[in-house]
Amino acid sequence: MPLPIAVLVSGGGSNLQSIIDTIEEGVLDAEIKLVVSNRARAFGLERARNHGIPTLVLSHKDYRTREDFDRAMVKAIHDHGVSAPHGAVVMAGFMRIVTHELLAAFPDRVLNIHPALLPSFPGVHGQGDAADYGVKISGCTVHFVDEEMDHGPVIIQAAVPCNAGEDGDELGPRILKLEHRVFSQAINWLAQDRLEIQGRHVHLKVAGIPLADAPRADVEPSCCALVCPPLEEGF
Ligand code: GRF
Repeated sequence: MPLPIAVLVSGGGSNLQSIIDTIEEGVLDAEIKLVVSNRARAFGLERARNHGIPTLVLSHKDYRTREDFDRAMVKAIHDHGVSAPHGAVVMAGFMRIVTHELLAAFPDRVLNIHPALLPSFPGVHGQGDAADYGVKISGCTVHFVDEEMDHGPVIIQAAVPCNAGEDGDELGPRILKLEHRVFSQAINWLAQDRLEIQGRHVHLKVAGIPLADAPRADVEPSCCALVCPPLEEGF
């Protein structure tokens, strides 16, 4: 059965689009049951509608606390057939800090993508902060969400070079291209039940083989882009 997911967006939704595309290509084994946005004008909503995916706008301004907002979101997600332990929540450019209310309803089932190599440059300006700092390498991170912002165990990271003099607007698109690949890959690993969290470490199980028997080769980077663990066929 495809992994039932709810996708949370606040903006353009290019990551949502890449998830939709890889599902439609038959590469990502998931089904988007609902797209939720806290902003009525988020273009991500239109992307969802174009593919017949149910959408919902929940404005955080209508709720007194973050917890109240998250409770409403959890109810809507449950009502659309996404619940733990099988279902998952995917934060694809969702610009809100989530609370225990969401995380308790989906333990170890909430994923986020961040446009920097965490733990460097958390927050809303990951690309610009990295560029301004003058780092030579930045990238993106898909991680499990916990109660601290941009903090939970890392599933996959991809690195790109940063050139002297670039700003976030120049660096950002290079990172975004990789976001589109690693996010679907990470969601697919979750769908295949291949992610095992041990403390801060996320182990990738070889399909169908228990962790202890996995050959070491599965963790060696095998592609020229610096993506770890390596992307699998189709992503
Ligand atoms: C991405 O850079 C993502 O990493 C960050 O917000 C941006 C969302 O882009 N969290 P989009 O809405 O998916 O195009």
